[in-house]
Amino acid sequence: MTARIPVVAGNWKMYKTPSEGAAFVSALASRIGIPVGVEVLVAPPFTGLAAAVTAAEGSSVEVAAQNIFWEEQGAFTGEIAPGMLADLGVGWAIIGHSERRQLFGETDQAVARKVRATIDHGLRAILCVGESEQERDADLTEERLTSQVAKGLGELSAGGCSELVVAYEPVWAIGTGRTATPQMAQEACALIRRRLAEIVGAEEAEYVRILYGGSVKPDNFAELMAQPDIDGGLVGGASLDVESFARLVEIAVA
Ligand code: 13P
Repeated sequence: MTARIPVVAGNWKMYKTPSEGAAFVSALASRIGIPVGVEVLVAPPFTGLAAAVTAAEGSSVEVAAQNIFWEEQGAFTGEIAPGMLADLGVGWAIIGHSERRQLFGETDQAVARKVRATIDHGLRAILCVGESEQERDADLTEERLTSQVAKGLGELSAGGCSELVVAYEPVWAIGTGRTATPQMAQEACALIRRRLAEIVGAEEAEYVRILYGGSVKPDNFAELMAQPDIDGGLVGGASLDVESFARLVEIAVA
């Protein structure tokens, strides 16, 4: 069994100004110290990335973007290239979050290009997948996850998988207070790992961290982390408060 280092990632969505974000990172860094056996990252809005990177210097906190565009440069008003983020010291990008898919029309093809561009520029990608409530009710969860994983990896070059993390976020559990049961989350994450194995080979798939996201809180995280195929959390609401986020980090290393 491969030892996969857990990842606890805070997706701040459209919360926190640059100065609020920097203060958060400093407070979090002193609260958690340098924990061994866990990777901790926060994903501020684009405007907060530079301040967060500066505040995180010399600490155990890493910084992620919430989105990227796949081109290197050009006439793409409002978009940010992965090379620009790398230059800033950002090490990760969240790709294909369900809010981007649903509210901003991001397609599987766009997601695949973003995953590839992120990894090609030396950043690590967190590919988000997850079924909607209607899909779960119609017994389409497996089909949806299978298709999102296959399409999301569709442009990846051989070996690119080592820089990939997958986040399973059932859409119905995001921001609703309705967490998937640990068994449901485990089943979905195990399915994702099987699909990864079909695409990149069983050995590589064993190394890919798979995170659960959707109403993760300090009081439900330990049970989720105890599942064999869950290697961390992608956390929204509970990542906005230093104490609750620090507790999630502690649970991940326990
Ligand atoms: P919540 O933790 O607020 O449900 O958000 C989950 C999420 O979307 C993280 O990306």
